[in-house]
Amino acid sequence: MEGLKRGIVLTAATLMFAAVMLPEVAAVRYIVGANMGWTSNVNYTIWAQGKHFYNGDWLFFVYDRNQMNVLEVNKTDYENCISDHPLHNWTTGAGRDVVPLNVTRNYYFISGKGFCFGGMKVAIHVENPPPPPSSSPVRSASPSSLLSNFRGHIFVPALFAVAAVWDSFLLLL
Ligand SMILES: *[C@@H]1O[C@H](CO)[C@@H](O)[C@H](O)[C@H]1NC(C)=O
Ligand SMILES: *[C@@H]1O[C@H](CO)[C@@H](O)[C@H](O)[C@H]1NC(C)=O
Ligand SMILES: *[C@@H]1O[C@H](CO)[C@@H](O)[C@H](O)[C@H]1NC(C)=O
Ligand SMILES: *[C@@H]1O[C@H](CO)[C@@H](O)[C@H](O)[C@H]1NC(C)=O
Repeated sequence: MEGLKRGIVLTAATLMFAAVMLPEVAAVRYIVGANMGWTSNVNYTIWAQGKHFYNGDWLFFVYDRNQMNVLEVNKTDYENCISDHPLHNWTTGAGRDVVPLNVTRNYYFISGKGFCFGGMKVAIHVENPPPPPSSSPVRSASPSSLLSNFRGHIFVPALFAVAAVWDSFLLLL
C-alpha cells in the first residue's frame, strides 16, 4: 500500500511538472525546406508561406556541409545575395545548424558560395506567440495548421490527466 501511494504521488508530481513545463516546450523547431532541407532548387518563399513563426521557435538547417552554408544577413544583402559581411554566420561545419528565433523581427538567411543567386535564401517574419488557448478559438485541423493547434491545445488534456491522478491519490488517503 505504501509503495503504491508513493508511486502515485511520484506520478502526480511528474505530471504536474510536465503540465507546468509544457508551455515552454511547445516551441516548434522547423526543418527549413521540410524533407528537401537547405539546398538549391527549392523555393523557400513558398516553404515559409502561411507558416507562423513565433518568438521561441527554432530553425533547423540541414544541408551538404561541403557545399552550402547558413548566413544571416540584412534585407539589402538578402535581396542582392551579398555574403561578404553577414550579420551572423550560423555555419558550424556539421551541415546541421540550429538558429533560435528569439527576437520578434524579420530574419534573412542566405547560403553563400553562389547558391543564393539560384534562390537559396529565406526571409522569416517572427511574431509574438498567440494568446493562451482559453481565449483563442479552436482552429480547424488542416495539415498546415496542425502544428499550431498542437502548440495551444496539448495543455488542456495534460491538466485533465493531472486532475485524474490527483483524484485517485486523494481517494487512497
Ligand atoms: C545592410 O548592410 C550593408 C553593409 O553594411 C549596408 O550598406 C546596408 O545599408 C544595410 N541594409 C540595411 C537594410 O540595413
Ligand atoms: C562561417 O563559419 C564557418 C565555421 O566557423 C567558417 O568555416 C566559414 O568560413 C565562415 N563563413 C563566413 C562566410 O564567414
Ligand atoms: C538569442 O539567441 C542568440 C544565440 O543563441 C543569443 O546570442 C542572444 O543573446 C539571444 N537573444 C535574446 C534576446 O535572448
Ligand atoms: C518563389 O515563389 C514566389 C511566390 O510564388 C515567387 O514570387 C518567386 O519569384 C519564386 N522565387 C524563385 C527564386 O523562383
